[in-house]
Amino acid sequence: MCGIVGYAGGRQALGIVVDGLRRLEYRGYDSAGVAIVDEGELTALKKAGKLANLEKVLADEAVKGVTGIGHTRWATHGGPTDRNAHPHLSVDGRIAIIHNGIIENFSALRAELTAGGIEFASDTDSEVVAHLIAAQGGDLTQAMLAVCQRLEGAFTLLAVSADQPGVVVGARRNSPLVVGRGKGENFLASDVSAFIEHTREAVELGQDQIVTITPDSIDVIGFDGKAAVGRDYHVDWDASAAEKGGYDWFMLKEIAEQPGVLADTLRGRLTEAGEIALDEVRLTDQDLRDVDKIFIVACGTAYHAGLVTKYAIEHWTRIPCEVELASEFRYRDPVLDRSTLVIAISQSGETMDTIMALRHAKTQKARVLAICNTNGSTIPRESDAVLYTRGGPEVAVASTKAFLTQVAACYLVGLHLAQVRGIKFTDEVAAIVAELQAIPAKVEQVLSTMEPVRELARELAGAPTVLFIGRHVGYPVALEGALKLKELAYIHAEGFAAGELKHGPIALIDQGTPVVCVVPSPRGRSILHDKVVSNIQEVRARGARTIVIAEEGDEAVAQFADDLIYVPQTPTLLAPLVTTVPMQVLAAEMAHTLGHDVDQPRNLAKSVTVE
Ligand code: G6P
Repeated sequence: MCGIVGYAGGRQALGIVVDGLRRLEYRGYDSAGVAIVDEGELTALKKAGKLANLEKVLADEAVKGVTGIGHTRWATHGGPTDRNAHPHLSVDGRIAIIHNGIIENFSALRAELTAGGIEFASDTDSEVVAHLIAAQGGDLTQAMLAVCQRLEGAFTLLAVSADQPGVVVGARRNSPLVVGRGKGENFLASDVSAFIEHTREAVELGQDQIVTITPDSIDVIGFDGKAAVGRDYHVDWDASAAEKGGYDWFMLKEIAEQPGVLADTLRGRLTEAGEIALDEVRLTDQDLRDVDKIFIVACGTAYHAGLVTKYAIEHWTRIPCEVELASEFRYRDPVLDRSTLVIAISQSGETMDTIMALRHAKTQKARVLAICNTNGSTIPRESDAVLYTRGGPEVAVASTKAFLTQVAACYLVGLHLAQVRGIKFTDEVAAIVAELQAIPAKVEQVLSTMEPVRELARELAGAPTVLFIGRHVGYPVALEGALKLKELAYIHAEGFAAGELKHGPIALIDQGTPVVCVVPSPRGRSILHDKVVSNIQEVRARGARTIVIAEEGDEAVAQFADDLIYVPQTPTLLAPLVTTVPMQVLAAEMAHTLGHDVDQPRNLAKSVTVE
C-alpha cells in the first residue's frame, strides 16, 4: 500500500529512486512521483497511472541531484489523479513529502492550515504534512519530530528540503520503513527490495521513530525526541530474487518457485532430537501446553491458508481452532484469555487489519504466534513467537508461493503444538514431516503437466462466471481458486462447500457453466470422495462443464469430468499443497488471455497498510 523510496549519496538520485519504485510498484500503482534536491533547488514531478507514465515525463527532463525521494501510490484520500499523486510540496515549493498510510486527524489539521491562509493543491490527507513541516521551519528532523507529535493514524513519511541538500528524513508509525546502509550512500524504503541491488545491509526501525539519513550517517530518534538505535541485519537474498528471471510475469515466476521455497520452509525445522523448531520463541513449552483454544487471523489468501490448516491443527493437536478474517476479529469481541493462542498469518507482516487483530489479542492477554514471510516486519516483531515462511520476495499482487509456504508453516506449528503437548510422539511427527518433504517434488510434477490447464484457461476466458466446489480441506482450496480468478480475470467466481450447493448455489448452474471440482483422495477418506463425486454428478446433470482436479489413479471420477486434471497422490490433509497449483495457473493464464496485467490487477495492492 504505497511504495516509498529515499536516497542520499554521491550518485545521481533520480535513476536510483525510479529503479526502487519499480520494485515497489506492487504496493500501489495508481500514480507515482519523485522529488530531487540539487544545490538548493528542489524539483518535483508526478503523474497519475503506473510508473511508466511518470517515466515518460522524466524522459523529457534533466533532473540532477544526489538526494531524492519517490512514491508509488494506492489511493486512500483523493482519487488517483496528477494533483493527488505524491510528493506534496510546501507553498514555497522548498519542502517535499511523501506518505504511506492514513492521517486520521487530517481534517482538523487542514482546517487549521486553511484558516491560516494556506491553499491546498490536492485532496489528500498527506498534504497537511508538507505545510506543517514548512510552518515549523528550521532543521528538517526537528520539524518532522514536532509534526509527528501532532499526527494521528498510521504513516510512513519521507521529507526533503531544498535548504538541506544531502538529507532525507523519514518517520514511521504503524507503517513499514527500512533503512539500507550503503558505502557513502544510504537508502530508505518500504521494503528492502527497493535497494537490494545496492546494499544488503539493512537497519530495522521501531514504531514511532524518526530517521535522518545523509550519505555518511543514519541517525534515529523516537517521537519523544530521545536518541534510539535501529537493529542492523543482513538481507539473505539478492537482487535476482526480486527480478522476473525470464518469465513474462512475476506471478508465473513465483508459481514456478513453489517447489524450491516449500523445501526452504521445511528445511532444518526438525532438530536432531526430532523436535520442530520455530524461529523466535518468546513462549515457554508450558505456555504452549496451556493453550486451550486457537484463533487463526489473516486476510485474503493468507486467510485461506488458515482455513486449510485448521483441519490439520485440530486433528493433530485436539485443540479447537477457529479461523477468522482479521478485519472482523476484534469487532465481535472474541473470547480470549491467557490460554488462547492467536496465529497471525501474513506474507508482508504489515497488513493493518491483521496487526490490529493481533494487538487486540494482546490486550486480552492471548499469546500471539506469527507466520510471516518478511523478516523484521511489524507482525513478527509484535508477536510472542515467529515461524518465517522463507518464501523470498513475492512481487505479484495475487499471492501464490506465500500461500503454499504459509500452509506448510502452519502444519509445522500444528506438529510443534502436538509434540509439546505430548499428543504426538517424535516418530509420528517425523513421519508427517517426511510426507511434507515429499510435497515439493509433487508440486514440481504438477507444474510440469500444466499445458492442458493453460489451454483450458484460454478456452474459458469468455466465461461470465466460474464456480469452484470442494469438501473438507478442498473447500478452502475452492475459495482460494475463486479468489485468484476474481482478482486476476475480473470475472464472477465463487467457491462453495460442495455439500452446500443443493441449499442454494446450484441455482447458478446454467448450460456450460464451468465448475472446478476439488476431489479428495479416494484412499483414506473414501466417504468424502464419494460425496464429492455425487456433487459433481449433480452439477453435471444441470448442464455444468466439470473441471475436475483429482489424484492420479482416481478412475471413479473420470467419467464425470469434462476436463480432468490429475495431481500426484497426497495424504488428505496435505493435499491442498498440490491441488491449489492448477488453479493458480488457470487464473494467471486466463488473465493473460484477457489482456489483463497479471502482476498488478486493477484496484488492488499487495500490502494493505490501512484498515
Ligand atoms: C492483499 C493482497 C492479498 C493478500 C492479502 C494479505 O489483499 O492482495 O494477495 O493475501 O493482502 O496480505 P498479507 O501480506 O497479510 O499476507
